[in-house]
Amino acid sequence: MSDEPPGALPFHLRGNFAPVKEEVTAADLPLRGSVPAGLRGRYIRNGPNPKSGSSPHWFMGDGMLHGVELGNGKARWYRNRYVRTRKFLEDAPGLKPDGTRDLTVGLANTHIVAHAGRLLALVESSLPTEMTPQLETTGCFDFEGRLATPMTAHPKACPLTGELHFFGYSFAPPYLTYHRANAAGRLQHSEAVEVPGPTMMHDFAITERHVVFMDLPVVFDLELALAGSMPYRWSDEYGARVGLMRRGDGAPVRWFDVAPCYVFHVLNAFEEAGQVIVDVVRYDELWRPGISSFPRARLHRWRIDPAAGKVGEERMDDRAIEFPRCDERRTGLRHRYGYAVYTEDGADTNSGTALIKYESRSGAAAVHDFGSGRVPGEGVFVPSAAGAGEDEGWVLTYVFDAARGASELVILDAAGFAGPPIATIELPVRVPFGFHGSWIPDHT
Ligand SMILES: [Fe+2]
Repeated sequence: MSDEPPGALPFHLRGNFAPVKEEVTAADLPLRGSVPAGLRGRYIRNGPNPKSGSSPHWFMGDGMLHGVELGNGKARWYRNRYVRTRKFLEDAPGLKPDGTRDLTVGLANTHIVAHAGRLLALVESSLPTEMTPQLETTGCFDFEGRLATPMTAHPKACPLTGELHFFGYSFAPPYLTYHRANAAGRLQHSEAVEVPGPTMMHDFAITERHVVFMDLPVVFDLELALAGSMPYRWSDEYGARVGLMRRGDGAPVRWFDVAPCYVFHVLNAFEEAGQVIVDVVRYDELWRPGISSFPRARLHRWRIDPAAGKVGEERMDDRAIEFPRCDERRTGLRHRYGYAVYTEDGADTNSGTALIKYESRSGAAAVHDFGSGRVPGEGVFVPSAAGAGEDEGWVLTYVFDAARGASELVILDAAGFAGPPIATIELPVRVPFGFHGSWIPDHT
């Protein structure tokens, strides 16, 4: 994808990026194969779907959830629903009269996560929006009045403590604020973190003992903001650094320079022999030519060495990937497997992508190719049981079939990743290419 000639319909409004027009409910969906008995819950994915049919940037459409409920070996229902934000309902302005952000107004289009019994639709520029398991909107959620910044769409739940770690960033000081909620969902700690300026900070990482921030050179641009589009651009001056915060002891964040780059997404991070290892999907640069340019990104490993005061960087694979995920029971802990969307050389995102599964010890990878013209989104791993091994379970993804102009929910065997799908569920609505989703088991 790149900047397009004036007058051309931008990529994010064409093909399977184009929004769908209706909200639909359907029961007992047709399927091929069999839905495992262990899959009892809902797969829900968020993405932009501009209500007006148009938006100035891929990231700027109203959030729409697409969900499928599985149970008793059946696909019980499909629903797609807009997140009914104040922006969606009232077209409320994002800025207050005094020029500050109204955090209750946002697009809620990036992710949906469950924590402490709440289901939150997220976008990094505003407060969360609480949803029901049936995808109805409950309303804006501010942690009982305690959250006073936006919330990243990529919070991290620590599997050891149940805490939810997250951050908010702003174009006005404090530019970065770290937050931690306890396992019961109560926001217990908020702390401003000093950074040189306002950057686009999409994701971060946790490990057993640390929180890792990425302060990278995609910077806020007031002129772009006033023009009503994505207000960020590449900077050759800003520099690039990662910050290491020790969990829970109040010590100042230590910053380490890295080569300029951009990272939307972290696959995972963990501690090893006194170092903090962060596996990231790294762009050499982003949005230098313009905000509609999405170059290819590749898996890299940062080794943050606090004793030596530096970061080692290694390219782990030459293939172009995005939307990395791991087994969330391993968040912050050494993982063995990772999953990502793989874009083959020469392919564009409307025609030829696959899912890839990395095995981190050997560096081996397995590829699941969905066939010509069949394009998967992010793959979400679901363990087959609470104590199951790291790839004992399934990977769920929505696949767009260009020949039919239709979408499916495909269930792969995580251990037999390259093999045929376990089940393919036909959906009554095309699911536009979007962002992130979660598996919400019945017991949450
Ligand atoms: Fe993201």
